[in-house]
Amino acid sequence: MRILILGGTSEASALARRVRDMPDVEATLSLAGRTERPAVAPIPARTGGFGGVAGLVAFLRSERIAAVVDATHAFARQISASAVEACAVAKIPLLAFTRPQWSAVEGDRWTTVDHVEAAADAIGVVARRVFLTVGRLRLGAFAAAPQHDYLVRTIDPPAGIEALPTHRSILARGPFSVEDELTLMQSQRIEVLVSKNSGGAATYPKIEAARRLHLPVVMIDRPPAISVTEHTDLAAVVDWIEAHRPSP
Ligand SMILES: NC(=O)c1ccc[n+]([C@@H]2O[C@H](COP(=O)([O-])OP(=O)(O)OC[C@H]3O[C@@H](n4cnc5c(N)ncnc54)[C@H](OP(=O)(O)O)[C@@H]3O)[C@@H](O)[C@H]2O)c1
Repeated sequence: MRILILGGTSEASALARRVRDMPDVEATLSLAGRTERPAVAPIPARTGGFGGVAGLVAFLRSERIAAVVDATHAFARQISASAVEACAVAKIPLLAFTRPQWSAVEGDRWTTVDHVEAAADAIGVVARRVFLTVGRLRLGAFAAAPQHDYLVRTIDPPAGIEALPTHRSILARGPFSVEDELTLMQSQRIEVLVSKNSGGAATYPKIEAARRLHLPVVMIDRPPAISVTEHTDLAAVVDWIEAHRPSP
């Protein structure tokens, strides 16, 4: 059985490690190629876009893929939409393997917004020291709020950071501990955290640290969900793959 895992997340890597040991399953991990130093793939990997829906359909057919698991990030909507369309055209089963999103708990001071431009606005008019953790590609949106002093953390060197008049940049890849996040936020005298609602444990410590420090958080909500069967649990994804083995 040949399966395609659309990746770029820790969930995709965990699934790749798991399917490596499944008898008679040959899986390919697909990465967009955004990260300069991606983690070593545990199974054969391919990198780069497919060329839209038509390209993905062609790939599914030429590689004789029997099932697709979309384990991309909740904010990567274009590839997920392509997967829905391409799998419908190629008549191949599709499952989304997602991370549950974070929910505010007692003590959290979240302002929830639905896109990155609204996040820039929600920081407020008064100049603040902002910890910006929204990835490296949408920093330009914060040029609309140039009064703030930004601490920008990304995995790879950020794009468009020069649009922010006052900034410092840290390159780091999670997971991060709560203690490290507390130390960073206190030493940098952070007043506001801006985050996407990525979910998962690896980057949650910044949310916990903000709560402990009574700091406000501007939380960017996920884009609307795409209608597809979804599991958040690795074992359930493995069961789904087993259930979709083509008959001999
Ligand atoms: N957005 C985030 O916040 C975020 C955070 C962490 C990780 N990631 C990962 O980074 C990747 C890119 O994210 P994005 O937000 O730029 O995605 P996107 O907007 O949904 O995708 C843009 C285009 O990139 C290509 N692409 C995306 N993911 C791909 C994959 N796994 N394999 C092959 N091609 C892929 C597709 O090109 P074609 O149309 O040419 O096929 C897609 O149309 C995703 O794989 C995602 O899992 C994203």
